[in-house]
Amino acid sequence: MKNSGETAKNIVINEDFNLFKVLSSPENIDNPYPVYQKLREYDPVFYMKSPTGFLSEDLWIVTRYDNISSVLNNKKFGRGNRFGKTKITAQNYSKLNALTQMRQHWVNFLDPPEHTRIRTFLNKAFSVKFVSNLKPNVKSIADYLIDKIRTGPAKNDFELIRDFSYPLATLTVAEMYGTPKEDREIIDKWASQVVRTLDVVTNQYTQEDLQLIYKSAEEIKDYFRKIVEERAANPEKYDDLITKLLLLRDNDDMLSIEEITSTLVLLTMDAHEAPKNLITNGIYALLRNPDQLDKLKNNPGLIEGAVDEFLRYDSPAQFTGRRTNEDEIVGGKEIKKGIQIICMLGAGNRDPAKFENPDKLDIERKNVIPLSFGGGIHYCAGAGLARLEAETGINSLLENFPRMKLKDKKYHYHASLHSRGLESLELNLNI
Ligand code: HEM
Repeated sequence: MKNSGETAKNIVINEDFNLFKVLSSPENIDNPYPVYQKLREYDPVFYMKSPTGFLSEDLWIVTRYDNISSVLNNKKFGRGNRFGKTKITAQNYSKLNALTQMRQHWVNFLDPPEHTRIRTFLNKAFSVKFVSNLKPNVKSIADYLIDKIRTGPAKNDFELIRDFSYPLATLTVAEMYGTPKEDREIIDKWASQVVRTLDVVTNQYTQEDLQLIYKSAEEIKDYFRKIVEERAANPEKYDDLITKLLLLRDNDDMLSIEEITSTLVLLTMDAHEAPKNLITNGIYALLRNPDQLDKLKNNPGLIEGAVDEFLRYDSPAQFTGRRTNEDEIVGGKEIKKGIQIICMLGAGNRDPAKFENPDKLDIERKNVIPLSFGGGIHYCAGAGLARLEAETGINSLLENFPRMKLKDKKYHYHASLHSRGLESLELNLNI
């Protein structure tokens, strides 16, 4: 997508307004909140033509907290996201490319009853107990990384994503899966290509992009398939999430190797990217708000509420979608059946009708329920894990590097409209 060069000050919102084009200018990538504010005030349930025509020709953009929350929790809205009109059979399934095959099993694209089935297994796998048992592992990964920073070259040339938030997220995934730590670079290379397909509503890809995405999908699927087959052949040798998914039963039902392989790719995309951005965006927000930084340093017990506030203030996921299963009214507008709705989570999180002084970071804000993990039946399956990583990671950093400071430079966010995170965060550690 080309940059539009439009800023929040000079944009005119009218029926030709293309939100995604405006949001993709460098200034708005770094700070989309003034654009959100303008749209929320102008028309909180805004109609626009879809820039890509993907899924539907028309789009409704929802920017108010209460409207978003009711869309996410309303059973009249689903994903409606069957790819193509052809019914998938065992014969034609094998002819599909790896990406399309995996999408048939990704919970985020499914409606009940298919969604309920796979989600039931995921909920069992990601139980509160499972996440709580991971606590010491995540803490020891954080300690290992801190030690490496103290003793290695990063001490004098520290970049938070490279040296901390990226390895914390990817090592946690390797630990959960029981996969070799050395593989995480290549897994991330594939995953970061495949994850781009979650942006299809807002982004038009070139043939070259698509080829790379399809190739990466094939490679990551092959990689995980081999691992799942090995676990399936020798389950007694392993004690990890993959083997757990293989052994889980719901009455007589179980997940197939193909379903587990596809699910692992989905989990990897989510678990590599979003927790990394939550930690990085959270530290960036704190360093720009020294009063809040001091509060958390002096009272690490505030971390749970602080992570909710980081999620609200600068969400790693900026939107999620739904599709109407039948005609429905949202914020007074009638939305016809079969239309795509984009819930702008980042905009709802800054809605002054919900949060007093929404542009202020306040880690002691009361009753914050951020929209950042979505809602209803699609509520993020990894929310507990993401919170654990952020709570552990951020408190470890503050405890060990209490004098860290921003450098005298401009920091920029990467150019995705869906996933929000800094490109890099170089800091002075002052140790
Ligand atoms: C800060 C970190 C994270 C954020 C902000 C985030 C955000 C989201 C959002 C917005 C959705 C869509 C919800 C909806 O449409 O209502 C979602 C779904 C999902 N997330 Fe996360 N996520 C994060 C971390 C993770 C992690 C660590 C995992 C896996 C370990 C994960 C797995 C999933 C899955 C499987 C879904 C699909 C759920 C469904 O459709 O039923 N996420 N997430």
